[in-house]
Amino acid sequence: MRPDGAGLPPGQGDARQGGDVYARHCAVCHGVKGEGGPSDVLVGAEPRGTAPFGPEYERWRSGRADVPFTIGNYWPYATTLFDYVRRAMPLGAPGSLTADETYAVVAWLLAQNQIVPEAAVMNAETLPKVVMPARKMFRPDDRRGGRTVK
Ligand code: HEC
Repeated sequence: MRPDGAGLPPGQGDARQGGDVYARHCAVCHGVKGEGGPSDVLVGAEPRGTAPFGPEYERWRSGRADVPFTIGNYWPYATTLFDYVRRAMPLGAPGSLTADETYAVVAWLLAQNQIVPEAAVMNAETLPKVVMPARKMFRPDDRRGGRTVK
């Protein structure tokens, strides 16, 4: 599924429905609130305004524990989240969620990361419009082959 929404299926879901899906299919590995468990941390808005690495980040954290890369601080496109969950999660049964369940769990993850309001409905129209906090940290790669590579 592309950032402009191409490839997103019909269907929809919100964070309330997604909380259910998450509790049943994801929490065992990623923690009850996405705080991480045996598998990756999925929720974390900090550090706001900068990448979770680099000199500005080091000044922000000033000796405190490192924060992990998360949906809230590193993923540039909300559509990628749908794509990834749809293709790869839950680990062990990828492809087992319906499109509605996937939109719902994506809505829950975005709400937990304080990117969309709790009541936001995610579907093929709304998801590509979500502006991820990390979007501004990424630049399109306009390099061409051979000697023109910068
Ligand atoms: C059996 C354990 C397990 C379950 C259940 C599971 N995951 Fe995962 N998840 C993983 C593992 C392991 C990875 C890391 C995969 C990798 O890096 O290749 C991962 C990675 C992810 C990532 C990418 C994290 C990142 O920032 O790189 C997301 C998003 C995610 N899972 C969402 C979900 C959702 C949503 C569900 C429920 C529908 C779910 N997972 C269920 C084990 C699980």
